[in-house]
Amino acid sequence: MSEAKIYDVPAHYSAAGTRNSPEDYERRYAQSVQDPDAFWAEEGRIVDWIKPFTKVKDVSFNADDLHIRWFEDGQLNVSANCLDRHLAERGDKTAIIWEGDSPDQSRHITFRELHADVCRFANVLLRKGVKKGERVTIYMPMIPEAAVAMLACTRIGAVHSVVFGGFSPDSLAGRIEDCESTVVITADEGLRGGKSVPLKANVDNAIRTPGGAGVKTVIVVRRTGGSVNWDGSRDHWYHDLMAGESAEHQAEAMNAEDPLFILYTSGSTGKPKGVLHTTGGYLVYATSTFANIFDIREDDVYWCTADVGWVTGHSYLLYGPLSNGTTTLMFEGVPQYPDWGRIGKVVDKHQVSILYTAPTAIRAIMREGDAPTLESKRTSLRLLGSVGEPINPEAWEWYHRVVGDHRCPIVDTWWQTETGGILITPLPGATALKPGSATRPYFGVRPAILDNDGTLLEGVAEGNLVISDSWPGQMRTVYGDHQRFIDTYFKTFAGVYTTGDGAKRDADGYYWITGRVDDVLNVSGHRMGTAEVESALVSHDAVAESAVVGFPHDIKGQGIYAYVTLQAGVEPSDELRKALVAHVRREIGPIAAPDAIQWAPGLPKTRSGKIMRRILRKIAAYEFDGLGDTSTLADPSVVDNLINGRKAG
Ligand code: WT7
Repeated sequence: MSEAKIYDVPAHYSAAGTRNSPEDYERRYAQSVQDPDAFWAEEGRIVDWIKPFTKVKDVSFNADDLHIRWFEDGQLNVSANCLDRHLAERGDKTAIIWEGDSPDQSRHITFRELHADVCRFANVLLRKGVKKGERVTIYMPMIPEAAVAMLACTRIGAVHSVVFGGFSPDSLAGRIEDCESTVVITADEGLRGGKSVPLKANVDNAIRTPGGAGVKTVIVVRRTGGSVNWDGSRDHWYHDLMAGESAEHQAEAMNAEDPLFILYTSGSTGKPKGVLHTTGGYLVYATSTFANIFDIREDDVYWCTADVGWVTGHSYLLYGPLSNGTTTLMFEGVPQYPDWGRIGKVVDKHQVSILYTAPTAIRAIMREGDAPTLESKRTSLRLLGSVGEPINPEAWEWYHRVVGDHRCPIVDTWWQTETGGILITPLPGATALKPGSATRPYFGVRPAILDNDGTLLEGVAEGNLVISDSWPGQMRTVYGDHQRFIDTYFKTFAGVYTTGDGAKRDADGYYWITGRVDDVLNVSGHRMGTAEVESALVSHDAVAESAVVGFPHDIKGQGIYAYVTLQAGVEPSDELRKALVAHVRREIGPIAAPDAIQWAPGLPKTRSGKIMRRILRKIAAYEFDGLGDTSTLADPSVVDNLINGRKAG
């Protein structure tokens, strides 16, 4: 890994004026970890405070006394930082460029217009009785009204919970129930790749389940005009409510540690957990990382392809860019529609200077060859970014050579829903790049590598990636289950935040993320717990037991491989296989659909009944050598059986 190719900071890049330099990085990084209070006291002032903080950091990672507080006596408002503070100088600047699913639909919305709509919608929410601290569920497509809804929540101090539009009614209901939300904001239908997504119908179905029964108000944006069912006592058209409202609203003063949003994400066990972020630390961290990592300049047009339903869509589609007064592009569609050249064409059409996307998208576009991408000029691009999963050097090189025309540095940014913002990343202008490495920590971030016994490894090392001290954007709790927060992140190794990822560190101190070390899958950059897919499979009448593992997949990075033991008397068939895939799609959503199902008469278990996933992962990956010690299995013959099944399938 130390022999990897190195890309130095291109001279033309630094010449154009960057906020980063190698010397500055070393100096500021050293200062930030030696005296985090001083560093973050200064950095904390990049956002506007209604009441300035006097305390910076109060943190203990000790499981018996866990607490994480940043800027705790300060008051501020996220929406005011994203909108009001720009009105004087940037009122007529474009805040959001919206590019529709269809290439002939786009809109420009200025900071002033967005501010007016957010104020109106804040007034709508207040009129509907939404109180400070109350949870509002947002289940929307990639349209500007999603941004309006999120910002309006932060404006009145309501806590938003955005649920990705690809999740099923059951998944939506589970999330509504967990945070006891009585208000849902949605659209009639979404539109992706020319196909409609029945969002309102999904909300109706979610409300019919016990989990969704508490919903009293549904606000619906008309996107496609498709027909929807209507319950006049509960459903309201967004446009009707907005028409009567004032475009003025005084943003609520929020305490720095007041909850800002909840975002559900998969863990290695149990139901998805509600990751809770708070106001001050999150906003400071999103604002600081966005400015420095994307090396932001006033005239940038920045495009992050993530959906608002994921954390990237929170921190780096919406809050980071708008807080910095940057023009952010929101894309409703998909890279292959109407053809595989779409990404480049959108770059040209809107003169995008920074493109931030996921390795799975890069690999999918790369597979089509260079031609579709070369139909565009892409001369406006200055910087590229990657996020969501390890990027293989081959995809990195292609992204650099073809999309960026050898000209644009790539920031490979490592972080998690839990971290709120990017923790390990190059800084353009400062960091020499190695394809496949997320490189070095951001200011104030202290990564470390531990072996499985918790021993700290120095120098060149490989093991568990942990973070030794807090940063302002860190999650504060699992909503409604603080014990789960402590158990998940602070018990495996004492005194540090456990990421769940493995990593190597090379002789230059560069980090190479090797992927999850727990039972969390990363499918096309989407996080999925094996336990969730297993429980969906087992909820089908034909299934007695199942074990789900990840396996290498050319485009998705990881695919979902399911071993299924059928109920006695049920015969395996192709129809049943299809039915099970459809069942999981219905239960969780299309992103959870297994890529392969193998019939398993038995599963490899220890004598105490624990499934040995290590063996199942190897078989799924077609690695039959080195299965390790199978002598502790209750019935070693099941392994041969599964290997034969894999070879046959
Ligand atoms: C997991 C977090 C971060 C926002 C999107 C995903 C993996 C993320 C990288 C990267 C290698 C990465 C990790 C992490 N991951 N970025 N640049 N290189 N791996 O957020 O759904 O919370 O998933 O994604 O495994 O733990 P998430």
